[in-house]
Amino acid sequence: MQQIELHIDGRAVSRIVGDGSPGCLSGLLAAEREVFLVHDRNVAWVADAVVAALPAAVFRGRRALEATEGGKEMATVLDICRWLMDAGASRKALLVAIGGGITTDLAGFAASIYKRGIRYANVPTTLLAQVDAGIGGKTGVNFLDYKNMLGVIVQPVFTYICSGVLRTLPRRDVRSGVAELLKTFLIEDSDGNYARAVRLFSSPERDGDGEDRAWELQALVFAAAAVKAGVVGRDPYEHGERRRLNLGHTFAHAIEHNARLAGDDITHGEAVSMGIILAARLSDRLAHQGGNNWCSACSDRAGCPRAEGMEARLRADFAAAGLPVDCPYPLAALAGAMEKDKKAGGGKVRFQIPVAVGRVEEAELDVADVINMLGTP
Ligand code: GLY
Repeated sequence: MQQIELHIDGRAVSRIVGDGSPGCLSGLLAAEREVFLVHDRNVAWVADAVVAALPAAVFRGRRALEATEGGKEMATVLDICRWLMDAGASRKALLVAIGGGITTDLAGFAASIYKRGIRYANVPTTLLAQVDAGIGGKTGVNFLDYKNMLGVIVQPVFTYICSGVLRTLPRRDVRSGVAELLKTFLIEDSDGNYARAVRLFSSPERDGDGEDRAWELQALVFAAAAVKAGVVGRDPYEHGERRRLNLGHTFAHAIEHNARLAGDDITHGEAVSMGIILAARLSDRLAHQGGNNWCSACSDRAGCPRAEGMEARLRADFAAAGLPVDCPYPLAALAGAMEKDKKAGGGKVRFQIPVAVGRVEEAELDVADVINMLGTP
């Protein structure tokens, strides 16, 4: 069984565990006395496997959710709390969230406020949630049409990564997760995992190589989980380094906001992909302008590792991996929603800028300046 420990202040607060079968959950749940499950309706079979791993007396109930972005709201969190209350959940209960990021965010938030906080665990069933949303303790809901405006950061006791579930995902959902996987390796790439991931998703799937691909993907998922656990462990409440994980997200949230208004179907991962390409263009424009005093990479004693032509490089890699790279909305239409994102104060917004594969720097910029720069060849 693979295992990564997430340490905060020298203490292991969460574990990321996986072995390719939901069966080993029985080990993780062995000491529990009261287990409740909240699961995405689409992965009821994973919930069945979790129930099968539990002694009958320990399993106290399950609740299926329609895990949609529209349902990611306070009313759903309160529904979960009401259900826990009706079912008599005590402060010792463990709530297990089974599904993608919407489910883990909703259930984690409900757990964090129910009776002032009970423990929760994640069984992420999408690639995106396995490498990002299911790790690091961010929970929450959308509010007033803006994403994740209400929430808390509370670590799950464990995140169980079942690689088998990825084989059942629609191709589009896998691609969505690929964007977050590549994002993680753009932030930290000690073993050439970025290139490995691009290679894996660029190569056509052939009959007979399913097992090799699955093994390679599992290795990449664990490598990304280890990067994320390291970043979160060093900065659990996002005061600095953790903000790097928002690479592409200021643009992505604005793209998703526009998509909701226009009734367009764009997944979070697709928006992140387009957002990272815009962040790469910003990197090129900032370098071209020569104003590098914002960038700690440029004052590195070892020399500035900034790579030339980040947009062209990432555009080619992301497109080869099957990801969308062009934002369908005019840049000016993104400005309003971007203003709402991760304010730095003084009217500026914090942008995460990829300056090389494995290195992201932060810049505090005016949204209007950014829109101008991106629109200027
Ligand atoms: N999804 C970004 C983070 O967990 O910080």
